[in-house]
Amino acid sequence: MLKDKAVVVTGASKGIGNAVALEFAKKGANIVVNYRSSEPTKLIEEINALGVKALAVKADVSDFEQAKSLVDTCINEFGNLDVLVNNAGITKDTLIMRMSEEDFDSVIKTNLKGAFNMIKHASKFMIKAKRGSIINMSSVVGLTGNMGQANYAASKAGIIGLTYSAAKEFALRGITCNAIAPGFIKTDMTDVLSDSVKEKILENIPLKRFGQPEEVARLAVFLAENRYITGQVMNIDGGMVMN
Ligand SMILES: NC(=O)c1ccc[n+]([C@@H]2O[C@H](COP(=O)([O-])OP(=O)(O)OC[C@H]3O[C@@H](n4cnc5c(N)ncnc54)[C@H](OP(=O)(O)O)[C@@H]3O)[C@@H](O)[C@H]2O)c1
Repeated sequence: MLKDKAVVVTGASKGIGNAVALEFAKKGANIVVNYRSSEPTKLIEEINALGVKALAVKADVSDFEQAKSLVDTCINEFGNLDVLVNNAGITKDTLIMRMSEEDFDSVIKTNLKGAFNMIKHASKFMIKAKRGSIINMSSVVGLTGNMGQANYAASKAGIIGLTYSAAKEFALRGITCNAIAPGFIKTDMTDVLSDSVKEKILENIPLKRFGQPEEVARLAVFLAENRYITGQVMNIDGGMVMN
């Protein structure tokens, strides 16, 4: 189903985004690999080795115009945009009493406004094509909140509202929109946590292990391929949050 389709993955230079880009490429899709600072040279080679096309595009998704040129590049190079994975995200963790206005704004701007920017520009083409799949990376903390993550949790809760709204607005146009809410996945983002914090998190994971980026990537592919799932938030967290 994904053969020769055009997929944009934001924040694909490492971690979950990297695995998502590779998983879609394995299904035969051509990939726009977006990054902000770390050039994804190895990933581009790996994707090309699979016999599909890969294009590295530097863009800050929190910037409305850069998000537009990222979408335009996909259309110009691959002729269409079938799947958008809004994965780019940052953390700036601290308690509210120590959190600066800048810490709050920058996380909201990247994680939430970045996804809006991309949906705004990409949907124009998906509506014309009467098909498309949008997958937004939320987090279980968007459902539960978390100490020291007011900015991040608010951005991820916002992603869920954005997902529901987009799903309702675009359903009649053949476009699905879903969110993935990972728990603790082993990436650079979680590597910075201390061993004692990691142990505490592990205690609350029924499956007693952290997740791998590839497991999230396979869920993203499943959501893109399935044309009867929309407006859903899929937890992938080893049972951490059951709702
Ligand atoms: N890891 C987890 O346990 C976990 C749990 C729940 C949700 N998530 C979510 O999953 C997504 C990926 O997380 P991860 O753990 O893979 O993080 P990561 O390893 O830190 O990777 C984040 C990616 O986002 C990119 N990025 C950051 N700001 C950007 C911007 N303004 N424009 C474009 N790209 C930008 C980074 O690019 P550069 O390196 O080039 O700056 C990087 O490729 C995030 O949305 C995160 O919130 C992760």
